[in-house]
Amino acid sequence: MAIEGVRFQGWMGRLSLLALSMAVAGISITAAAEAATPTARPWLNPALSPDQRASALVKAMTPAEKFRLIHSDYGATMVPGEISPAGGKHNAAFIPAMPRLGLPSIQETDAGLGVALQHAYGDGDTALPSGLSTASSFDPAIAQAGGAMIGSEAHKLGFNVMLAGGVDLMRDPRNGRNFEYAGEDPLLAGTIVGAAVRGIESAHVVSTVKHYALNDQETNRNAIDAQLDHTAARESDLLAFQIAIETGHPGSVMCSYNRVDSVYACENDWLLNQVLKRDWKYPGFVMSDWGGVHSTVAAAQAGLDQESAGNEPAFDKQEFFGKPLQDAVAAGKVPQSRIDDMVHRIARSLFAAGVVQYPAKVAPIDYRADALVSQHAAEAGTVLLRNQDALLPLSPQTASIAVIGSHADKGVVTGGGSSAVKPRGGSAVTGVVPTEWPGPRIYQPSAPLAAIAKRTHGKVSYASGDDIAAAAKLAAQSKVAVVFVTQWTSESFDAPSMALPGNQDALVAAVAKANPHTIVVLENNGPVSMPWLDNVGAVMEAWYPGVKGGEAIARLLFGEVAPSGHLPVSWPRDESQLPRATIPGAGLAAIGLTPQGRPAASVDYNIEGADVGYRWFQKRGITPLFPFGYGLTYTQFDYGKPTLTAADGTVKMSFSIKNTGKRNGVAVPQMYVTPPGTDRTRRLAGWQRVELKPGQTRQVTIRASAIRLADFDEAAHGWKRAAGNYSFELGQSAASFAGTATLQLAAANCTLTTCKTTP
Ligand code: BGC
Repeated sequence: MAIEGVRFQGWMGRLSLLALSMAVAGISITAAAEAATPTARPWLNPALSPDQRASALVKAMTPAEKFRLIHSDYGATMVPGEISPAGGKHNAAFIPAMPRLGLPSIQETDAGLGVALQHAYGDGDTALPSGLSTASSFDPAIAQAGGAMIGSEAHKLGFNVMLAGGVDLMRDPRNGRNFEYAGEDPLLAGTIVGAAVRGIESAHVVSTVKHYALNDQETNRNAIDAQLDHTAARESDLLAFQIAIETGHPGSVMCSYNRVDSVYACENDWLLNQVLKRDWKYPGFVMSDWGGVHSTVAAAQAGLDQESAGNEPAFDKQEFFGKPLQDAVAAGKVPQSRIDDMVHRIARSLFAAGVVQYPAKVAPIDYRADALVSQHAAEAGTVLLRNQDALLPLSPQTASIAVIGSHADKGVVTGGGSSAVKPRGGSAVTGVVPTEWPGPRIYQPSAPLAAIAKRTHGKVSYASGDDIAAAAKLAAQSKVAVVFVTQWTSESFDAPSMALPGNQDALVAAVAKANPHTIVVLENNGPVSMPWLDNVGAVMEAWYPGVKGGEAIARLLFGEVAPSGHLPVSWPRDESQLPRATIPGAGLAAIGLTPQGRPAASVDYNIEGADVGYRWFQKRGITPLFPFGYGLTYTQFDYGKPTLTAADGTVKMSFSIKNTGKRNGVAVPQMYVTPPGTDRTRRLAGWQRVELKPGQTRQVTIRASAIRLADFDEAAHGWKRAAGNYSFELGQSAASFAGTATLQLAAANCTLTTCKTTP
C-alpha cells in the first residue's frame, strides 16, 4: 500500500504424473508428448521441465506480450463497493489471459490465512488461525494442510497466485503484522512457512514468500531504513527466507516496502540479485509489494521481475514497468536479456505450480471440511501458559461458568489489513472501529460462549465486560470465570506498547479478585503485558484462532483435546526487556492508540543483530515472562539422558520420553546447539512432536539442522562449521533443559541439510 489511509479497502522440473507413469511404462516421454502437444506450442507440453517450457515460451512471445507479463493491474478499485475493473475479481492484482499462447489470466489474491479479497469484499472464505498459531504447533504437517486448504479454496475461486508465505521474523512484539508471520526463530519460521508454501503450491497455485526483507515493523514501513549487518542478516531474517524458499519452493518472492542499507528492498541489488538469485539460486520471480517500486532501471537491474498493481496511482507513483521500461530497453539502459529473464522466471513458476496445466476455475468448496482443517490447526496452535492447581481442564459438571468480554457471545477476532479473511455471512460483530482501512475489524462467527455452553451441564452466563463491576459480580456468583481479552492489530500500524487496549487489564484484575478460578483466554497479535498474571488461575494463548476458534478454545478448555502449542516467540515481561524500548510514532488514533512522537527514519537491528528473541534474552541475562518454546499441557513428561551421534554430515540426539501423568499428551522436545567460542548464544537446531498415552515411553531421535551448526562466511558466500566442541541441549523451552551433551566436530561446509568436512 503506497498511501496509508487511502486504501479501504519443486523446481527441478517436477515430472507430471502423466509423464512419470509413461516413463514407468517404458514409453518414450518425448515422443508421446510431441504427439500430444502441438509442436507449435511446446511450452504447453507438461512433459518438459518448467525451465524448458519457459524458454520455449519466451522465444515465442512478442515484445508486447512480454511487457504485459511483467506488470500486473489492480483487481479492485479504491472505492469500496465499486465493481472491479474488467478482468479483475476484486483482488490484489491480475494480468489478462493470452489466448494466443494458451496462458490463462493471472489472478492474485491475498493471503496467508485464507482467501482475502480487497476491502474485505466477497462472501468470505475459510480463515486459518494466525501464522503465530500455526507456528506454535511446531508441526509442518499442520502448516502444510492449512496451505493446501487455502490454496484449494483459492483455486476453486479462480485464483492462481496467492500472496501467502509471510516469514518476516518477530523482532518486536508490537509489530502490527506479527500475526501474519511465524515467530522469532529462523529455523522454526522457515520450516513452518516452507510447509505452508508446499501446501499452497500443491493446489496448483503459486505461493509468494514475503515481505523480503527486514520488514519487521509497520510504522513508516514505506520508507524506513532497516539497518542490520549483512552476516547477522544472513543468520537471522534472511535465513528464515532461505529455509522457507529451499523447503517450500514458492513460485514468487515479494520484495518489501522498506529500505535496507538505505536502498528500497525492491531495487536492492544485494537482496535480490546477490543473495536471492546468486547465492540461493532462486529460479522463481520477484514481485513488488503494492506501492513498493520507486524506479524503472534501478529496480529492473537490481532483480525485480514484476511490478504489482502499478496501474493504480494509490500504489506506485507511476507505472515503472510499463512504458518507462520499454523506453529504457530501447535506450539500451536495460538489456533485452533482462526482460527475457523476468518473463522466463514468471513463466517457469506458473508451469512448475501447474497453473497452466490445471487452470483455476470456479468449483464447489467443501466449507465444512475446510473449517475442520482450520479448527485442527487452532487446537494444535493454542498455548497453555498457566494452569495453577490444575484448574484446567474444566469438568462438564462445573456448576456455573461466567464467560466475559471480547464479544465471546458472538465470535473470535482476526487481525486486520490485506490478509483479513471475511467469513461467509459477514463478520460476527460489525461496527467496531476502525470500520475502514486498516479495518474493518472482523470477527469469525464461532462463539466461545455457545461452544462452552454445549459442553457443560452447569449454568453459563455472559457479561460483555463493558461494565467491570457487573462482570466482577457475575464472576463472584459463578464457580469459574473465563475472561476473553483481545488485542486487535493490523497491517499498516504497530501497537504503541505491549498493554492490552482499553480497560481490559482492569477487567481481568477485577474478575480475578472476585473469583480465584479465573481463566484468561487471549486473542491477540503477539505478546502483551499481563500485570494480573499472578492473580489468575489459568491463561490460554489462542492468538487469532480462525473460523472455528470458539469451538477449538472450548475443546481445549474441557480437555477434549490436549493443549500442545509451544511459543514461537519469547514473551517479554514488558517493553523494558526489548532491544528497543519504543517504536516512535507507533499507534492508530482511530482506535484510541494515539501515536507518540514522529516515526523514525531508520531502525537499528544491529542492537540485537542475529541474537533475535530468546538469544537476546540469553545474551542479556534477562528472564522473559515466558520463554520461546514454552507450553503446558494436562500431563507431565520425564526425559531420559540425551546421547549424540554424528554421521553422514548430520548430528542426531536420542533420548527417551515418558508421559508420567494421567492424560494423553503431546510433548515438543527441542534441541538447542551452542557453537564453540566465546559469547555464543544457543540456537534451535531441531524438534519433534511426540504423542504419548499415560505411562507410555518412547525413544525419540531429533536430527539437527546442519545450517544451524554453521556460521555464515561473507567471503565464501556460504556456511562454515568451525572445528570445536559443540554443546547440545535437550529443551522443554529455550530456557529449561532436561539434559546436555557435547560433541567434538570437525570443520565443515554446510547447507541446510548436511555438512561436508573440509580437509
Ligand atoms: C501488503 C501485502 C499484500 C498487498 C496486496 C500490501 O499492502 O503489504 O502483504 O499482499 O498489499 O494486497
